[in-house]
Amino acid sequence: MNVLPVVDPVVGYVKEPVDPTLDLYAEIERLKREKNAVLLAHYYQEPEIQDLADFIGDSLGLARKAAETDADIIVFAGVHFMAETAKIVNPDKKVLLPDLNAGCSLADACPPELFKPFIERHPGHTVISYINCSAGTKALTDIIVTSSNAEHIIRQIPRDQPIIFGPDRNLGRYLARVADRPDMVIWDGVCIVHETFSEKKLLALKVEYPGVPVLAHPECEEAVLRHADFIGSTSEIRLFARESEKMKFIVATEEGILHQMRKDSPGKEFIPAPPESGCQCNQCPHMRLNTIEKLYLCLKHEAPELEMEESIRLRALKPIERMLEMSKAVK
Ligand code: 13P
Ligand code: SF4
Repeated sequence: MNVLPVVDPVVGYVKEPVDPTLDLYAEIERLKREKNAVLLAHYYQEPEIQDLADFIGDSLGLARKAAETDADIIVFAGVHFMAETAKIVNPDKKVLLPDLNAGCSLADACPPELFKPFIERHPGHTVISYINCSAGTKALTDIIVTSSNAEHIIRQIPRDQPIIFGPDRNLGRYLARVADRPDMVIWDGVCIVHETFSEKKLLALKVEYPGVPVLAHPECEEAVLRHADFIGSTSEIRLFARESEKMKFIVATEEGILHQMRKDSPGKEFIPAPPESGCQCNQCPHMRLNTIEKLYLCLKHEAPELEMEESIRLRALKPIERMLEMSKAVK
C-alpha cells in the first residue's frame, strides 16, 4: 500500500533523507519533464535553484508567468505569498512550495484581522496592497501592485480619490513622493532585509568607489533611497545594470540578485550594499529556507501543496486581475 508523504507541520516540508550520491540537478529536471511541472523562481533564491528555474523574475513577472502557464504543476521557488498568488490565478493546478514556512515579514506585518479595521477607519479610500501580503489581505484589497508597476497604477487613480497603501511603509512613502500622492494613508510594515542597509556604511562605500551608481530596491528605507542613482524592482535593477555602460555598481537589495547580474555581465563588478551589522542580513531568511534538497522532495512527492478556501481565493483574484489589466503597458 502506498503511504502518502506527510508534510511535517513544524518544519513545513516532507522530511526524508536524500541520497547524497543523487545528481539533484538531473533528478529535478527529470521530475519536471515527467510531471509537466514548471519551476518559477525569484531572484532571491540560492544560485543553484535559480539555475534550475524555467523562469526567474520579479514579483510581476512571476505573477504573469503563473497566470499564463499551461503546465500541470507549478513549483514556486519563492515565498508563501508568491505561491499563493499562483494558486489564486490557477485554482485547478497543483501549486507547490518547497518549504511552507517560507514567509515574508511584510505579509506577516499586515494580517487581515488588523488590516480590515484599519480600512474601516478610512472609509471611501481605494485600498492598494503590495503583492507581498497574504491571500486574506489581498481579499480586502481593491488593487494589487508590485514594485515594478505600483507607480504606473497609482497614477491611474483620480487625484481626488484617497488611497490606503499597505503593507510596506518604505515603498508607500517612496510612491507617495514619486506619484505625488502626499496624503496616501500608509500601513506601517517593513521588509526585515531591506531595512537592514546602513546609510552610514553606504556613504563610506560611495567615498571608496566614487562615481559608482547605487541601485536600490524601493523597500529600502528613505535614508538609503536618497543616495540611490536608480530605484526599481529586482528585474529593473538587473536590466539597468545590464544596459548601463558603467562597469561597477553598488546594489542595495537581497544579494541573490547578484547571481543573474554577474551572469548577464561577467566583466562588471557588483558590490552589495552593507547591512548595519556585519551579519548576512542582506539574505532573506524566508527565501533561503528553500534548498535544492527540499525542491527535489517537493517535486518527488508533490508536497507541500498550497491550499486555499475558495471564497478567499475568489475575493483575492479580483485585485490581482485589476493589477494585470492596469499594468499591461509595464514591461
Ligand atoms: P520584486 O522582485 O518584485 O522587486 O520584489 C522584491 C521582494 O522583496 C520580493 O519579496
Ligand atoms: Fe519579504 Fe523582504 Fe524576504 Fe522579500 S526580501 S520575501 S519582502 S522579507
